[in-house]
Amino acid sequence: MTDAAKVSVDGKDFDYPVMSGTVGPDVVDIRKFYAQTGDFTYDPGFTSTASCQSKLTYIDGDEGVLLHRGYPIGELAENSSFMEVAYLLLNGELPEKGELAQFEHTISRHTMVHEQLATFFRGFRRDAHPMAILCGVVGALSAFYHDSTDIHDPVQRTIASHRLIAKMPTIAAMAYKYSVGQPFLYPDNSLSYTGNFLRMTFGVPAEPYEVNPAVEKAMDRIFILHADHEQNASTSTVRLAGSSGANPFACMAAGIACLWGPAHGGANEAALNMLREIGTPERIPEFIARAKDKNDPFRLMGFGHRVYKNYDPRATVMQKTVREVFDALKVNDPLFDTALRLEELALSDEYFIEKKLFPNVDFYSGVILSAIGFPTSMFTVLFALARTVGWVAQWNEMITDPDQKIGRPRQLYTGPTQRSYVPVDQR
Ligand code: SDX
Repeated sequence: MTDAAKVSVDGKDFDYPVMSGTVGPDVVDIRKFYAQTGDFTYDPGFTSTASCQSKLTYIDGDEGVLLHRGYPIGELAENSSFMEVAYLLLNGELPEKGELAQFEHTISRHTMVHEQLATFFRGFRRDAHPMAILCGVVGALSAFYHDSTDIHDPVQRTIASHRLIAKMPTIAAMAYKYSVGQPFLYPDNSLSYTGNFLRMTFGVPAEPYEVNPAVEKAMDRIFILHADHEQNASTSTVRLAGSSGANPFACMAAGIACLWGPAHGGANEAALNMLREIGTPERIPEFIARAKDKNDPFRLMGFGHRVYKNYDPRATVMQKTVREVFDALKVNDPLFDTALRLEELALSDEYFIEKKLFPNVDFYSGVILSAIGFPTSMFTVLFALARTVGWVAQWNEMITDPDQKIGRPRQLYTGPTQRSYVPVDQR
């Protein structure tokens, strides 16, 4: 580990300090690079760029390690709850019993949305994609909750954080209900965070809804697996939006928009659609060949990752959860067998081995969500619901980071040099 990195530009040497974290790669502090050299660094896609310091989540992509405030995702998924992980990410430590009860009570008291917000849904077509609705409605929250938009007031930041975490399940359930033409259900705070969401989604006013404990546990675990993931595209979007001083509701709407992409959170919907298109295991070789064909834009959805060059530890838990949900609901979906066979064939194929492409968090999640009863169009909504905890925690960390200023990258300009305007009759 060196304490300085030497860079030579046009024959002149420059030293840049090397900073070390508690674990993981060091970083070269190049904040003064342009001022000293007159050059920019170039890193489209930020494959080698650290955008911030963070204490929230650590990923070792080679070892397939994911820690939230130091706790391995497998241990949290096995022993914790989504509300407890939310508290951990927001506050840095696992809560004591009373702290957790207080946090859950606080969140439960914010689960209702302003009654007028329901009218926003009526402006959408019934077949609107729920992610389109989520983008619009979450952005609109800033029109209702002015009293928690001053980002420099820690009390307002906390209220806005709790409001976002608490209202996301209500809004997500409303988006689903609107798409199926059923009435919205109000939250029932006698239920757990996840049980409340399941009831608002699948319950109907005409009869009582019994939360299935096995489904509740599986859904809560799926939320844990999606809570936070370092500086991924949507989290970086939230941080960049927040760096301009935008209010937290607008920042989360920006994160939702980014997450929707099929290369990111939209992959869970795309992965199940892909499995449905493949259908039976006999057709897998055809799709693997397409994924390997440079002239074919098709990719195996739910496979590969910018950081994990080993098995995504979340996919391991997700695969185990499939069987638990199938057993609890006494269902079976042949697509799971297709997924298992696809994984087996891909992981034994030279192309996937050489490019270190493994199943990621999105590969198996759709099989579970479909078994529980969610349409594929809701899959990324569920990802956004859970990731709101991470976005909110990362947003708070960014706002209170003295190093942070408005994000404003530069570019390598390759357009025309200066030229004079030519009137249209002389062109
Ligand atoms: C998430 O960042 C996060 O942390 C995200 C996330 C989170 O929790 O926030 O983990 C959630 O977004 C998971 C990823 C979900 N997306 C998918 O499953 C979509 C399919 N996967 C890919 O498109 C891709 O793997 C990415 C986008 C996930 C990562 O892409 P990278 O790191 O930019 O890598 P790349 O596109 O440059 O691919 C490297 C090579 C390429 O081949 P070459 O040009 O070198 O010959 O691997 C190939 C790619 O063609 N490749 C694939 C592939 N993924 C990469 N080939 C076939 N199928 C795939 N799935």
